[in-house]
Amino acid sequence: MINGETKVFGIIGDPIEHTFSPVMHNAAFKKLDMNNIYVPFNVKAEELEDAISGAYALGIRGLNITIPHKTEVIKYLDYLDIAAGLIGAVNTIEFGKNGIVGHNTDGIGAVRAINEISSVKNKSIMILGAGGAARAIAFQILLSGAKNLIISNRTIEKASELRDDLIEKLEPDVQIIDLDHDNLKIKLKDTDILINTTPIGMYPHTNKKPLLTADMMHENMVVNDIVYNPLKTGLLNEAEKAGAKPISGVKMLIYQGVESFKIWSGAEPPVEIFKKAIMDHLHLEII
Ligand SMILES: NC(=O)c1ccc[n+]([C@@H]2O[C@H](COP(=O)([O-])OP(=O)(O)OC[C@H]3O[C@@H](n4cnc5c(N)ncnc54)[C@H](OP(=O)(O)O)[C@@H]3O)[C@@H](O)[C@H]2O)c1
Repeated sequence: MINGETKVFGIIGDPIEHTFSPVMHNAAFKKLDMNNIYVPFNVKAEELEDAISGAYALGIRGLNITIPHKTEVIKYLDYLDIAAGLIGAVNTIEFGKNGIVGHNTDGIGAVRAINEISSVKNKSIMILGAGGAARAIAFQILLSGAKNLIISNRTIEKASELRDDLIEKLEPDVQIIDLDHDNLKIKLKDTDILINTTPIGMYPHTNKKPLLTADMMHENMVVNDIVYNPLKTGLLNEAEKAGAKPISGVKMLIYQGVESFKIWSGAEPPVEIFKKAIMDHLHLEII
């Protein structure tokens, strides 16, 4: 029951109608008998500053931040954690006694999903795409000890910008390549972990041919597609054909939420609650 002691959390973005975060967090609050509520707020770009100061004034405890505000919101925060500072984007904020702190759990969520199957430490990794998600994952994977990284993107200039930023901040071993089939095939021979961050294969375009086919992969490879609808994308089907280990994007979705919850509450919530809430919502079976 909502009363004078209820703590309010939420997510701001534009649009926000299709967010899955309230489903996960409210299920966890209910199961753990916490007097908390998580609410989606549609906030226009020109109202972002007012939304953050208003949330602080109202005593809102924490917010997730989604498109298009992840970078812009930084202007209105007092501190950033290391990953958020490096990435230059925030998806979680906590309103503390000493100010407003920004975090980024997108990369942590992806790395946690991959680490469950095979640690990213000392691995050769290829990321397809160079957008916002690729950026968060690239920084976090290097912070987590990856040996080297190849970024492959349709627009090579975007891959180049990301590479330059990674090199300036972390001095890693990073290469970029375009999406040329033969180039990819050669580089994939030495790739341990492949991560797709492009929207190819996402519902309703599930019949679109994936960027890579089974003959380009190998059985010792882990393949993570961060697209979560459908649960098994065309790329993950190809990975299975090659004998590689597939990881659905729903895992990243779940773990970025779990990590936000941890930041706000100081404790790890039962992951199963997040998993079940999202699977019920998507009408899917538990993975
Ligand atoms: N599982 C999760 O929790 C999670 C979290 C965040 C995002 N996602 C998903 O990840 C995807 C990307 O999100 P984002 O925020 O990174 O998007 P973004 O910033 O728009 O970046 C999209 C990237 O995909 C590439 N791309 C788009 N269409 C392509 C095509 N037809 N062929 C080749 N490359 C293409 C773009 O290449 P160019 O540079 O050439 O345009 C760009 O590098 C979305 O599907 C999103 O739903 C999942």
